Amino acid sequence: MATSHRATRNRTSRKGIHPPQAYSSFLETYVTVDQKLWGFRATGAKSTQLNHRKRVAWARIRLRRFEQRLTCIAISVNLYAFVTLPPGFWKWSVRRLFSPSKNHSESNMTTEIPMPTAVFPDLEGKLVLITGAARGIGRAIAEEFAKQKSHLMLVDLDPSIEQTASEVASTYETKTDFRIANVTDSAQVKEVIDQAVQPYGKQMYVLVNNAGITRDGAAMRMSDENWDAVISTNLTGTHNFCKASIRFLRKANGAIVNISSISGQIGNIGQTNYCAAKGGVIAYTKALAIEYPGLRCTAICPGFINTDMTARLPSDVWKYATAKTKLRRAGEAWEIAQAVVRSATAYGNTYAPCAVVTVAGGMELGG
Ligand SMILES: NC(=O)c1ccc[n+]([C@@H]2O[C@H](COP(=O)([O-])OP(=O)(O)OC[C@H]3O[C@@H](n4cnc5c(N)ncnc54)[C@H](O)[C@@H]3O)[C@@H](O)[C@H]2O)c1
Repeated sequence: MATSHRATRNRTSRKGIHPPQAYSSFLETYVTVDQKLWGFRATGAKSTQLNHRKRVAWARIRLRRFEQRLTCIAISVNLYAFVTLPPGFWKWSVRRLFSPSKNHSESNMTTEIPMPTAVFPDLEGKLVLITGAARGIGRAIAEEFAKQKSHLMLVDLDPSIEQTASEVASTYETKTDFRIANVTDSAQVKEVIDQAVQPYGKQMYVLVNNAGITRDGAAMRMSDENWDAVISTNLTGTHNFCKASIRFLRKANGAIVNISSISGQIGNIGQTNYCAAKGGVIAYTKALAIEYPGLRCTAICPGFINTDMTARLPSDVWKYATAKTKLRRAGEAWEIAQAVVRSATAYGNTYAPCAVVTVAGGMELGG
């Protein structure tokens, strides 16, 4: 205390200034500290600045010492743990450190396309008929089978099917034919099938019923026209193609893959017609599998997929739909196409005569 009084006296007498009481006591405190630490006295504004710099340097040194102590403690704790914990624990830790990440939020959020490496030899050179193949999921399915060197018959109401067929044929160098037909017209469908199977000894290996439409609206305001259009395209169209091809598919020990929808499993607002049709497709597929045990029958249920069908929906619907998925994104057509090919091949599908495969980014899980 005596020292600090002296310091204040020195300072004031040399400068001839009498600082106010509060400032004076402030200086006294620091002067005392400085004296203890550095062995000098604060004199005037210049030395106050100097002291400040020294105080900062001192604080840094203390911080470094504190860090050194912490490091020592950490090393001691680790050494103690290393000595006391069983060797099994360390083996487990090392395995965890070097094994691939199982964190789904990191690993599955990607939209990067993994190049398919699987080749299913049973699909090569076999007739595969795909409806609604002009664009979207149907086109992606055609491309995926083309990679397997299947022979394609692409069917669609839209005349652009011709261009799709020629593009697929030239890109993948596989035999690709097309027909413009309406899946709701059973006579037309029969004609398409009969012509398609002729070059293949009246055999067809895979039928993919993909053609589909939506006509959304509240149930109480739904027009008969919209109801009928959706049921006849999605459900009756599927039946028309199955009915006309079953005998040729059975001859080839083939497969039927029907494109249903997540809406057919969990329902969706404004889609009573579509949900009824797609739910019907699932039930229809199961009934087929029971009726024709030799056929591999699969209903694929896509979630919210990035195609022309969804492109026209407002951004609010996109936000709502993608938020309902676990992966927080819409699916891509190729992701459905890969599931279709895996369901159609006899490889790896020897004990699943009927399956309902959901490819919906986890939308079906709820929550
Ligand atoms: N896009 C999605 O989010 C989604 C989700 C679940 C299920 N699906 C189903 O997947 C299938 C393909 O959907 P997409 O998104 O590629 O749709 P899309 O509209 O892009 O393609 C549908 C194709 O079907 C054809 N088609 C429509 N009516 C037809 C008819 N009567 N006869 C012949 N061809 C006809 C269209 O011309 C078109 O080429 C549909 O069955 C759809 O219900 C789509």
